[in-house]
Amino acid sequence: MCRERKMNLIRLECCNDPIKVSRFSLVPEKFGDMVVTLIRIGILVCLVASVSLTLHSAFSKKPDQWFPLPEHVHFVQNTSFVDTGPTNISHILFGIAGSVNTWHDRSNYSKQWWNPSTTRGFVWLDKKPSVLHPDMVVPYKISRGWAQFKYVHSASAVRIARIVYESFRLGLPNVRWFVMGDDDTVFFTENLVTVLGKYDHHQMYYIGGNSESVEQNVMHSYNMAFGGGGFAVSYALAAHLARMMDGCLRRYFYFYGSDQRVWACVHEIGVPLTKENGFHQFDIRGNPYGFLAAHPLAPLVSLHHIGQLSPLFPNQTHIHSLQKLISAYSIDPARIVQQSFCYDHKRRWSVSIAWGYTIQIYSTLLIAADLQMPLQTFQTWRSWSDGPFTFNTRPMSSDPCKQPAMFFLDQIAKVGTSGSVSIYKRHNFSGAQCKREGINRREVQTIKVSALKLDPEYWKNVPRRHCCQIMDGGSIKDGSMHIRVRKCRLQETITI
Ligand SMILES: *[C@@H]1O[C@H](CO)[C@@H](O)[C@H](O)[C@H]1NC(C)=O
Ligand SMILES: *[C@@H]1O[C@H](CO)[C@@H](O)[C@H](O)[C@H]1NC(C)=O
Ligand SMILES: *[C@@H]1O[C@H](CO)[C@@H](O)[C@H](O)[C@H]1NC(C)=O
Ligand SMILES: *[C@@H]1O[C@H](CO)[C@@H](O)[C@H](O)[C@H]1NC(C)=O
Ligand SMILES: *[C@@H]1O[C@H](CO)[C@@H](O)[C@H](O)[C@H]1NC(C)=O
Repeated sequence: MCRERKMNLIRLECCNDPIKVSRFSLVPEKFGDMVVTLIRIGILVCLVASVSLTLHSAFSKKPDQWFPLPEHVHFVQNTSFVDTGPTNISHILFGIAGSVNTWHDRSNYSKQWWNPSTTRGFVWLDKKPSVLHPDMVVPYKISRGWAQFKYVHSASAVRIARIVYESFRLGLPNVRWFVMGDDDTVFFTENLVTVLGKYDHHQMYYIGGNSESVEQNVMHSYNMAFGGGGFAVSYALAAHLARMMDGCLRRYFYFYGSDQRVWACVHEIGVPLTKENGFHQFDIRGNPYGFLAAHPLAPLVSLHHIGQLSPLFPNQTHIHSLQKLISAYSIDPARIVQQSFCYDHKRRWSVSIAWGYTIQIYSTLLIAADLQMPLQTFQTWRSWSDGPFTFNTRPMSSDPCKQPAMFFLDQIAKVGTSGSVSIYKRHNFSGAQCKREGINRREVQTIKVSALKLDPEYWKNVPRRHCCQIMDGGSIKDGSMHIRVRKCRLQETITI
């Protein structure tokens, strides 16, 4: 389809070019009448058109014909059926980096997001597992041919880097994107589809995110897609990578990670990283709360290292926390963890909602620019330091009166066809309590949030943060407040 569009453009250009036409028609014709001139123009224009078309088609042949694949990589897609519809989950082939040793425990994470009836892909294992849990939903494949490569740090990095190549080599039909992840990467596939749908898989794309810890990016690279956060390789790029992967693995044997090998290989082709802010390597230590409560204005695509961080919800296991978050995600995927702010001007409270996850209420008025900045509830990955991160953070005050009251998602329900009501419950942290007036007096125990389902199309344009509105004049009934999240009005601002 794209190729056809390009051809049409060329045809239009050559036939409608006023300069070319005028150049020919202005040649003085001593004896020629108008008919002869017109015929000549016609012949010339058609000549130009056919020459350019021939040239164009000669140079726009499938790249395979210019750079022949080695014999063993000749697995091309069945092109007899051209699928031009919008990208959906069936166009994505996942390649999960697993190993027999870790897969048993970590398959609990993939179980949360993998839908056996729609998700395509495999977990790639180092050898045949001796026992298979009956509820492991991701089909597995055994990586082959990786033992021949030299390495300095780990053989599994070679094996995992090769998953792109092995996935491509399967030659499965209608694959537009190869998405790589670790066995402890949790994907939010609806949002992944929304994000990838913005890009043309016929072009070479390398999409993902880097580390949250500056030290990690300095050590590896700012323009490397960190593998744990997951990354997507378009069909066109995968085809190119497949041709050179084994060469790259030989050249970069001294590298540390698998994602680094892919990165080095992609950069030999000259393709940059397309950063999407919803991929989370989560190279942080401690509690990811502050980050998820102030998520960037981008759809949530992935989470990683969940098992190494504090559970997302207090007093709950990692898996239960994840299930809780996913219960909200499944009702309104595009809106999950999206942040909105509003003020209760009478009480001088600031409210920050991360939809489907948490609400913070501060008993002071904080400006919007501060509210969108994550509270630093975590440290850096490598050195466990207080920064720097690749985003700004605010310190969590040690004064309990300056800490926000925190509410966590308790229940969520659909309302009608396109609405939701989510209920957030206050969490009483142990330790010092604030004795002063305000939100700290604990009169609010639950908050009810109503919202309309966010159309994924919202993410195709420049986003604008949604607004929230405290309902019923801020009245608190039986310890409960009601807030509505909605599109901001044209002139509306979040002003103290
Ligand atoms: C390609 O796909 C079409 C339709 O899905 C099928 O009829 C045909 O046999 C396939 N060709 C090959 C070579 O697999
Ligand atoms: C995805 O799109 C294709 C056509 O492009 C369609 O045939 C298929 O049913 C769709 N799959 C899902 C899961 O929506
Ligand atoms: C995963 O689930 C199995 C049983 O379903 C359990 O034995 C195991 O401890 C779980 N692992 C983790 C990391 O939660
Ligand atoms: C934590 O959970 C346990 C059992 O589920 C419960 O008894 C306890 O009250 C909870 N603690 C807090 C602080 O919510
Ligand atoms: C938190 O504390 C308030 C009063 O101090 C109490 O009414 C409420 O039940 C507590 N909540 C939880 C979840 O323990």
